[in-house]
Amino acid sequence: MTEHSTSTNSYLEMLKNSPMFGAPLAGVSTPSFRKVVRLFFNGLIFTEMVSVEGLIRKGSGTMVFLRTNDSDDPLGVQLFGSKHESYPDAVKVVLDTITPAVIDINMGCPVKKVIKTNSGAAMLRDEANIAKVVRAAKSACGNVPLSIKIRLGWDADSINYNEIIKIAYEEGASAVTLHGRTKAEGFGGQVHYDMIADAKSRAKLPIIGNGDIIDMETYNNMLNTGIDGVMIGRGMMKQPWIFKALADCKDPDGYLDTRNLKDLIFTIMDYEMQNARGSRYLDVSKKYIVWLMKGLPGAASLRNSVYECGDRQKLDDMLENYFSSIKDIPTDQSSE
Ligand SMILES: Cc1cc2nc3c(=O)[nH]c(=O)nc-3n(C[C@H](O)[C@H](O)[C@H](O)COP(=O)(O)O)c2cc1C
Repeated sequence: MTEHSTSTNSYLEMLKNSPMFGAPLAGVSTPSFRKVVRLFFNGLIFTEMVSVEGLIRKGSGTMVFLRTNDSDDPLGVQLFGSKHESYPDAVKVVLDTITPAVIDINMGCPVKKVIKTNSGAAMLRDEANIAKVVRAAKSACGNVPLSIKIRLGWDADSINYNEIIKIAYEEGASAVTLHGRTKAEGFGGQVHYDMIADAKSRAKLPIIGNGDIIDMETYNNMLNTGIDGVMIGRGMMKQPWIFKALADCKDPDGYLDTRNLKDLIFTIMDYEMQNARGSRYLDVSKKYIVWLMKGLPGAASLRNSVYECGDRQKLDDMLENYFSSIKDIPTDQSSE
């Protein structure tokens, strides 16, 4: 049973309006992308994961992850790092720089570079260290609530989500996000809804269910586990309007007509340009353009031309021509 009432738990408070959070996505959840998501969602959105070690050095390459946009509220900052002794200073750097609604610790990332430093999903294998990390981070958070984001365990033989959730609760965390896979499963196979339901039924703090939410069916599957809220990652990355669609009980496929989609693509380019780190904004924009156009008639053959185009004006013309050549049809992105 969740012991926290909505009046005392900020995560539950935020979930009252809409039971969804936008996931931390390295390389995607930039200030400009978050601003795009904000067009469709006023709930909690996370930053990309930020290195605790980089923060305590105040390295410019790390501090850039704390940049915000003018609509970044509520914002969650996600940290990664395995050394408990680094957390108090790192959290202090965050709180001296911006005012996040919550701070989260990544304990689920399966990427080799992260695992090699015993961070991300590698932390699932050392419960004693998790306790120290949560305690250390919590000691510096003040009134800012703390959560952790985990997987079910390292592999099928070491499932330990219930133990970790208990530790998080005992050390003062306010919520746990649970991606319904082990580290060994990566992003493959089915999400284990039964284990998410089990976690929720035992937890004394709010559980946010995560994994494969892309439409009403998968959203309902997750809600049916009884969890307090859901976190959406790749569904947001490819269809940032997913939050609005699901809130309207609609699938994101077909939710935007081509005119709105075209406007959104131009908005993304403008936001990327405003937040540009150098002239790379066009390259960054192209990846979103291709994702957003997926499934439109002829979009697959346009993909290469988009990637090859190095000039904003030419890209604008190409997109204008393309969109005026197709009828105002709903965007059915499931067809490709
Ligand atoms: C491109 C990409 C980047 C990610 N970056 C992070 C990250 O920085 N921190 C984190 O906790 N998880 C990260 N994840 C995992 C997602 O937050 C999420 O847990 C996972 O994708 C499952 O949810 P989904 O099926 O809704 O995408 C990333 C996933 C992807 C695909």
